[in-house]
Amino acid sequence: MCYACGAMNDTHNSKRYPLAARRVLWVSLLSQCGIVFTGALVRLTGSGLGCPTWPECTEGSLVPVPHQAQGFHKYIEFGNRMLTFVIAVACIASMIVALRTQPRRRPIVVLSALGLLGVLAQALLGGFTVLAGLHPATVAAHFLVSILLIYFAHVAYARSGEDGDATPQPVVRREAHLLGRIIVLLSACILFLGTLVTGSGPHSGDAKTTVRFNFDPRVISWLHADLVIFYLGLLVAMVLMLRMTAAPQPAQRRAGWLLCISLAQGLIGYVQYFTGLPELAVALHILGALLVWLGALRLYDALQSREDTGAQPLQSVQRP
Ligand code: HEM
Repeated sequence: MCYACGAMNDTHNSKRYPLAARRVLWVSLLSQCGIVFTGALVRLTGSGLGCPTWPECTEGSLVPVPHQAQGFHKYIEFGNRMLTFVIAVACIASMIVALRTQPRRRPIVVLSALGLLGVLAQALLGGFTVLAGLHPATVAAHFLVSILLIYFAHVAYARSGEDGDATPQPVVRREAHLLGRIIVLLSACILFLGTLVTGSGPHSGDAKTTVRFNFDPRVISWLHADLVIFYLGLLVAMVLMLRMTAAPQPAQRRAGWLLCISLAQGLIGYVQYFTGLPELAVALHILGALLVWLGALRLYDALQSREDTGAQPLQSVQRP
């Protein structure tokens, strides 16, 4: 059923999702990104143990109570817990859309189901994080599982705009396609190292939490930054390669954007490092991390196509 015009998809002879259905998947992606940012705000305001227990907020009550010791922190942490339900609703809606859109596309159904299961897992992991007194390993895992859920939501959304589920073919030189893969992989490694930096620094989510990773914050920060420099080098190579081989415009544009976002993110990283990790800079850095991740995934999408355009991957360097 076409949500936009009421016609069956088959009458359009297209497997692309209708606009309204795509919007539901988009909201799901947005909500997965949103909770990473609000989760970061919980940490940066030191509200991680605002509700000191789980699933109750405080002994004997699921919601914060006025005489609770944690001041405004309890409302921040409780508000973030409530957002889980918003995301769960968005994921259930995506699941329904994926099951009802005809022809049914199995990969999108599976990705939507993984998103929903992931949110349930995150609710449990979040509870465990509180019960573990904000141990950095559980805080990092909570962040990284969200990164995986963003990946699922992104792929579901991107595929809903594609006409079918054929094996994707590169629309750029094979080297550029491979480089795109490496860039996605490297960005995931940078995010992972970033969580180790956070787990070695002061932003655990509660002033009283002393347990941290046993890394020297300076060494782990530089390792994180060194990988970023390597990644930026590859990204510059990618921008040049796409330009020199006259790759499709979307690929060139997305690579250019990713380079700009990544440079800004690197700058914020250095600023926060040299200024003693002020909360505002750290919050911007987390926002930047989300944008880099989405940018890398979007770039990779633009390097290939599932549609039979008749275009051959470029095999030789051409002058623009
Ligand atoms: C593409 C560029 C970069 C990306 C994608 C990135 C990503 C991240 C991520 C995901 C975190 C962990 C956030 C969390 O656990 O909540 C982090 C933390 C951090 N990053 Fe980066 N980063 C980048 C560049 C840099 C650079 C160049 C530096 C310079 C030293 C830097 C310094 C830091 C520091 C100090 C932290 C710890 C912040 C805290 O204590 O909360 N980052 N980064």
